[in-house]
Amino acid sequence: MSTTKPRVLTGDTPTGRLHLGHYVGSIENRLALQDQYDCYFLIANKHAFTTRADRPAEIRQSVVDIATDWLAVGIDPERSAMVLQSEVPAIDELTFFFSMLLPFNRVLRNPTLAQEIKDKDLGDKYPFGFPLYTVGQCADILAFRPQLVPVGEDQLPHLEMTREVARRFNQLYCGVDPQTEDADHLARGGLMPVIEPKLGRVKRLVGIGAPNAETGQLHKMSKSLNNAIFLSDDADTVRKKVMSMYTDPKRITGKEPGEVDPAKNPLWAFHETFNSDAPWLQEHRELYRAGKVGDVVVKKKLVEVLNDLIEPIRTRRKQFELRPDEVIEALRRGTRRANQVAEETLALAKQAMKQDYFARTLSIP
Ligand code: TRP
Repeated sequence: MSTTKPRVLTGDTPTGRLHLGHYVGSIENRLALQDQYDCYFLIANKHAFTTRADRPAEIRQSVVDIATDWLAVGIDPERSAMVLQSEVPAIDELTFFFSMLLPFNRVLRNPTLAQEIKDKDLGDKYPFGFPLYTVGQCADILAFRPQLVPVGEDQLPHLEMTREVARRFNQLYCGVDPQTEDADHLARGGLMPVIEPKLGRVKRLVGIGAPNAETGQLHKMSKSLNNAIFLSDDADTVRKKVMSMYTDPKRITGKEPGEVDPAKNPLWAFHETFNSDAPWLQEHRELYRAGKVGDVVVKKKLVEVLNDLIEPIRTRRKQFELRPDEVIEALRRGTRRANQVAEETLALAKQAMKQDYFARTLSIP
């Protein structure tokens, strides 16, 4: 472990297995960052309780699924810490203090939170802890004082809140002048970095289904919308999903000849995203538009492309499925490492807040 490298923090809420949307939205970035950064990847198991407090066994299974997926895609637990949120108490302690730095109405106006309330049809029936999770996410991040936070586009409102918390903390407790530029907060004595998000190569991968009947927009890939291709799907499932994929009946692939409009046609959105065979793409895009090649040919090629990507992941996953102890062990070691950083942040935060009365230690055996 190197403590001199700048840190990266990101995470997943364990709601099920990882799919291709996660892969291009964030996983690719994580794999690329493992070498140059001290990486912390968090499984936000407490956040899963916001909507599934009545299904603890399901949440436990999802935690194991996500950790297994991470190992399968190539997250290396020797280099990157795989962290179980519920065993990093400093996160909860920071959450309480941070919750005092944000007006309640500001939290409720968080667009991602508002969208989730709408999508999940929660009305006003959500628990107190549901809006609280967004403040918790500020603590997930700032507990690690990271330089980079690789996320998908839907997480940007949470990152904006995190930036507000950091500024406020530094102003109130570290004497940082309110006029200070975000990038200068640490140099001016602030404890919390005003972090920059790092978006993935593809901000929003579409699902395999038909567009929204009202808006005409394709849905994003999501487990709950039943339109996902999972990194653990077997070859035949991938084939079936692709062969049944929605295609635009008008064969629209773009505004200009040869262009692809992924907003209209998921088949081509997937090719654009995953097929690196540029000459094939160019040739078939034109043939497709001209009606000289059918969906089946283009779909068959996509099956090949996706199975080439997923096959090694699938194979490694099978090996880890046989060794669940190893998966838990990776979490234990990563969480232990995470606590070293998070406890240090908490101690420094308490010092800044003048609540450092005596020392305390925490250990995972
Ligand atoms: N909210 C994120 C999601 O649903 C998961 C998450 C929790 C996270 N804590 C985080 C992401 C901290 C980035 C940083 O995917």
